Amino acid sequence: MTETILQAHPSASNLAKEYTEGQSFDWKSVEQVFTWSETSRVNMAYECVDRHVEAGKGSHQALHYIGDEGAITYTYQELQDEIGRWSNVLRQHGVKKGDFVFVFLPKHPLGYVAMLAAIRMGAVVGPLFEAFMEEAVRDRINDCEGEFLITNQSFMDRVDTAHIPSLRKIFLTDEKVESGEISIVSEAQEASPEADVTWVELDDGLNIHYTSGSTGKPKGVIHAHRAMIQQYQTGRWVLDLKEDDVYWCTAHPGWVTGTVYGVFAPLLNGVTIVIHGGRFSAEAWYEVIEQTKVTVWYSAPTAFRMLQAAGESVQSPYDLSSLRHILSVGEPLNPEVIHWGYRTIGLRIHDTWWMTETGAQLIANVPTRVVKPGSMGRPIPGIQAAVLDDEGSELPPGETGHLAIRTSWPSIMKEIWKNEEKYLSYFPYGDGWYIAGDLAYIDEDGYVFFQGRSDDMINSSGERIGPFEVESKLIEHEAVKEAGVIGKPDAVRGEIVKAFIALNDGYPETPELLEDIRLFVRGKLAAHAAPREIEVIDELPKTQISGKVLRRELKKRE
Ligand code: PRX
Repeated sequence: MTETILQAHPSASNLAKEYTEGQSFDWKSVEQVFTWSETSRVNMAYECVDRHVEAGKGSHQALHYIGDEGAITYTYQELQDEIGRWSNVLRQHGVKKGDFVFVFLPKHPLGYVAMLAAIRMGAVVGPLFEAFMEEAVRDRINDCEGEFLITNQSFMDRVDTAHIPSLRKIFLTDEKVESGEISIVSEAQEASPEADVTWVELDDGLNIHYTSGSTGKPKGVIHAHRAMIQQYQTGRWVLDLKEDDVYWCTAHPGWVTGTVYGVFAPLLNGVTIVIHGGRFSAEAWYEVIEQTKVTVWYSAPTAFRMLQAAGESVQSPYDLSSLRHILSVGEPLNPEVIHWGYRTIGLRIHDTWWMTETGAQLIANVPTRVVKPGSMGRPIPGIQAAVLDDEGSELPPGETGHLAIRTSWPSIMKEIWKNEEKYLSYFPYGDGWYIAGDLAYIDEDGYVFFQGRSDDMINSSGERIGPFEVESKLIEHEAVKEAGVIGKPDAVRGEIVKAFIALNDGYPETPELLEDIRLFVRGKLAAHAAPREIEVIDELPKTQISGKVLRRELKKRE
């Protein structure tokens, strides 16, 4: 069976038709797709929606939502009209080019409309993950002094307005609001669908995603409109999107995958996007595929492992025959999962590698090439990868070192908000190489094998968690004297968050206390950041000089 999985399935893929292995490729050649290549007038939202309507594809379905409210659909024309109405409302309330507009909404078409309306008027959109708790929301908006927020009444419980002084206006997606509140949906009903696009420069800010590292609080990674070049092209070559595709990316736009490959790449390619509003369950997910006839599906290893664990008896009643291409991202895709996908669905799962900072896929398994289970694939055309030693010299095939990408590419981040030092830390060997923070080796055929992180960042279910953020929260609990947090290997989630803590005098260790500590972190940050395991020890290992907690020692102990 392995042999079959390894075989390439070039079939009718876009890549097979448009690119021959070894051919040189220049990102400039992609520019002609966009209206701005002729008009010089740039805007991501225009290219995602208006361009298709102007090309006569207004009746093509853009969004297909399935959730608690049943199904909701939008054609490209309807989406354009709704975005126009919303951007008129935003403009009336003072939103202007360059402003930060945060969007804190569930997976729902209104979240898509909100993001695109803000972008269409030149604002920088900040999508927030729907499960963020009060402090996660507050820290992000405060960091860049965001002035505008689009959310709903039920999420307002987690918006600590008293401690976000920069917030000027909050737009609610509920129809009924209290006096003094703004219902963006009601005001949009009265507004004209015709709205001017705010034209920007290719290098102007498009979106901000906060992302964790091993130190400090999450940093604001800002991307520019130029990212659309690579987001479009990877949608075409890696996702292999064609106009009639029904495409489902399972990530929430609060994560970079949910924005780039949940909103931008599919719309730039003019396909139909599926949005699933509910929680994960194997039955619900299979039902989404069957009902909406998903053809291209982008998800993550933990989700695939959970589907695998649910068993084939759960899967077999569903008709999954619409699927033709499956992809994965965010954490190591173990070979067992590729075998499961091939055995039960009859398709290879194509791993892809990129990061919030890179703005789009850089390394991927593509339809035209052999998949080597365990490898993330090869650098896509236009991208050069290498593995470097600690001094920045290239290592030969098979040797593990720092995964590096030759600069630059169209979707690379524009900046880290107000943190030049952090931005420069990605280029420790000078301008020529971007250093990902991942350890990897590259084999003789150019396939990249992920080997872990070079820092303490935790990856649980594909979500990036900074140990510092969790440790800081833990020691705010009255019982906790000190804390060290690591990722502990886990068969389903890749890693889980594990905390080692020392308790203050007078707080004996009890299961109730540990649960209270866990809920404390969960209630303030987000469920995915709360430690799944807490172990009490007398004293944490620390460096002699600075007294910093030695997470590596904790890892060894684990
Ligand atoms: O460690 C790598 C891991 O996720 C990190 C980036 O996380 P984030 O910025 O949240 O973006 C996730 C999705 C784009 C990377 O530094 N990672 C990403 N893709 C893979 C991966 N690890 C192993 N295999 C992958 N395919």
